Amino acid sequence: MATRKDAAMFSSVLLVLVLLCGPWAGCRAHNITAILERYPEYSLYNSYLTRTKVCDEINAHETVTCLVLDNGAMSTLAAKCPLAAIKNALRLLALLDYFDPPKLHALPSGSTLTSTLLQTTGNEAGNLGFVNITNLRGGRVGFASTAPGSKFDSTYTKSVDKIPYNLSVLAVSAPIVFPGLFDTPTAASSNLTALLEKAGCKTFARLLTTSGVLKVFQDAMDKGLTLFAPMTKRSRRPMRRI
Ligand SMILES: *[C@@H]1O[C@H](CO)[C@@H](O)[C@H](O)[C@H]1NC(C)=O
Ligand SMILES: *[C@@H]1O[C@H](CO)[C@@H](O)[C@H](O)[C@H]1NC(C)=O
Ligand SMILES: *[C@@H]1O[C@H](CO)[C@@H](O)[C@H](O)[C@H]1NC(C)=O
Ligand SMILES: *[C@@H]1O[C@H](CO)[C@@H](O)[C@H](O)[C@H]1NC(C)=O
Repeated sequence: MATRKDAAMFSSVLLVLVLLCGPWAGCRAHNITAILERYPEYSLYNSYLTRTKVCDEINAHETVTCLVLDNGAMSTLAAKCPLAAIKNALRLLALLDYFDPPKLHALPSGSTLTSTLLQTTGNEAGNLGFVNITNLRGGRVGFASTAPGSKFDSTYTKSVDKIPYNLSVLAVSAPIVFPGLFDTPTAASSNLTALLEKAGCKTFARLLTTSGVLKVFQDAMDKGLTLFAPMTKRSRRPMRRI
């Protein structure tokens, strides 16, 4: 039987918990960066969450499922596209619902739609921020964009970590992509190679590409970049401001 002492003890423990986690204490529901730091195989993914600040968007949501890529898959993605596109790819991997393995493997009628962080940004066409989760053949679970032409190339591999019913971290085989994800307005209008060629600086563009400097410049363009490039053909204006 519970004594009065037990009850007093219980209320003080409760009080401490309330004080520690009340909104006045600035307590965050979770910190995805700190959680992923325990898993070195996702360190590249974690560093991109920080660089793009998508970690703050994830932490701001009480209920979220993070689909994470291991260092191999993440470096493939990072090599393919500029930071702005990586940011959108990471947002599409943050599902605004709680999915643990039992829930994933027993979806009602075999599939479900869920919204993602990409959908909350408001700068994408409405349906591009949704993900279709489907129980595929052979017990596999696939993730695909709802955009036409999308494939279930991203599949569930394992559960990495969880805070029950609030945060679930699941590993997936590949990013969820759809035709045009990497041509986000910023990425498409800032193809440095195309801009340079248009400005008559083709040789310089080729030099940038072959030397690998292009990617550095391309990433810097997300923040704004002024480049003075030499013209290919002789001209009265030997440098072009782009
Ligand atoms: C989990 O989310 C609920 C709201 O869905 C919130 O009230 C609760 O504080 C969260 N718990 C933890 C441990 O973050
Ligand atoms: C989350 O954890 C990281 C690494 O431990 C830390 O640097 C960062 O300040 C934490 N963020 C918040 C909002 O507490
Ligand atoms: C998800 O995609 C599959 C395959 O294209 C489709 O059959 C299913 O109806 C979709 N699920 C939802 C909830 O839209
Ligand atoms: C950028 O433009 C160049 C030249 O027009 C093209 O070859 C290249 O594929 C484009 N890159 C991207 C990422 O669209």
